Amino acid sequence: MKKPRVLVTGATGHLGGALLRGLGGRHDLTPLGFSRGEGPDLRDREAVQAFAARGSFDTIVHLAGTKDLAACEASPRHAWELNVLPLVHLAEAFPRAWIILISTDYVFSGDRGGYTERDAPAPGTAYGRAKAAAEFAGALFAPCFTVIRLSALYDRAAAFPKFLEAELSAGRPVDAYIDVFYTPTWHEDFCAILDRLLGMEVSAQGVFHVCGPRISRYAFAHFYAQARGFDPALVRAAKRGPENRLLPDLSLDCQETCARFGLSITPHADAIARLSRTMAQGATPAFR
Ligand SMILES: NC(=O)c1ccc[n+]([C@@H]2O[C@H](COP(=O)([O-])OP(=O)(O)OC[C@H]3O[C@@H](n4cnc5c(N)ncnc54)[C@H](OP(=O)(O)O)[C@@H]3O)[C@@H](O)[C@H]2O)c1
Repeated sequence: MKKPRVLVTGATGHLGGALLRGLGGRHDLTPLGFSRGEGPDLRDREAVQAFAARGSFDTIVHLAGTKDLAACEASPRHAWELNVLPLVHLAEAFPRAWIILISTDYVFSGDRGGYTERDAPAPGTAYGRAKAAAEFAGALFAPCFTVIRLSALYDRAAAFPKFLEAELSAGRPVDAYIDVFYTPTWHEDFCAILDRLLGMEVSAQGVFHVCGPRISRYAFAHFYAQARGFDPALVRAAKRGPENRLLPDLSLDCQETCARFGLSITPHADAIARLSRTMAQGATPAFR
């Protein structure tokens, strides 16, 4: 069977890098950058139309956008232009393509956690509202549409492990929250679901969650220190202050998605042990 042609927007970003390293050889992926001049500005409708006139794709994995919470809060227009309009432009320019939007746990309010695929979005941030709007826009404009919601993706390029590595290796203490919970997504689990989706003969439409087990920021940092052989006492338990913008519990539930696709989620201890080995070797792990 001929492999479907897959366009990957946002290929120069964090998720794009993880996806291309993980799946590059297994699927017919066409990466689309922007600042490298390899693709159109997705905010520009005509530029996207002109790009589409040069060739078609069966599937679009749409990663491009912004995850800058502060910038979205400061300018809802910026959030709209980067996180909603590109999806509408792609759906108009590629009316026969299956679009897979990568969305976020921030479509939920973050006050109770355990959000399932069936829970209605109720975002508490401008970023979350823009991503929720993109989910609805996709359902409105794209005839074939899938949403994959991730929690913070982690691999060696992710911000939190990089911060922990820099601080702990310098012997500096890190204050990590015991009362902020999330379900960070291990990059191999992210690649695993896309591998399944892109290998399917019939597209799977709907909303799917891909995340790790629920964990506090403190417990994650503690695991990390132990796995890397740093003094775990350097990770200090801190409490979220009233002014802190981190949401108390953004955790997702992915049981339904795992059951549907036969996926098993990697425990954080295993993932962090693997991450630690690649940090020690200075290599970026490939998807297995
Ligand atoms: N990272 C996570 O943990 C995570 C978790 C859940 C959901 N997400 C979602 O996944 C998406 C990607 O996340 P990321 O971490 O990969 O973000 P990122 O590292 O900031 O990358 C953003 C990507 O979007 C591209 N882009 C920005 N403006 C563009 C424009 N006007 N036209 C075309 N492309 C444009 C960038 O291209 P250039 O670099 O070439 O400018 C870059 O490739 C975001 O929308 C975010 O909401 C991310």
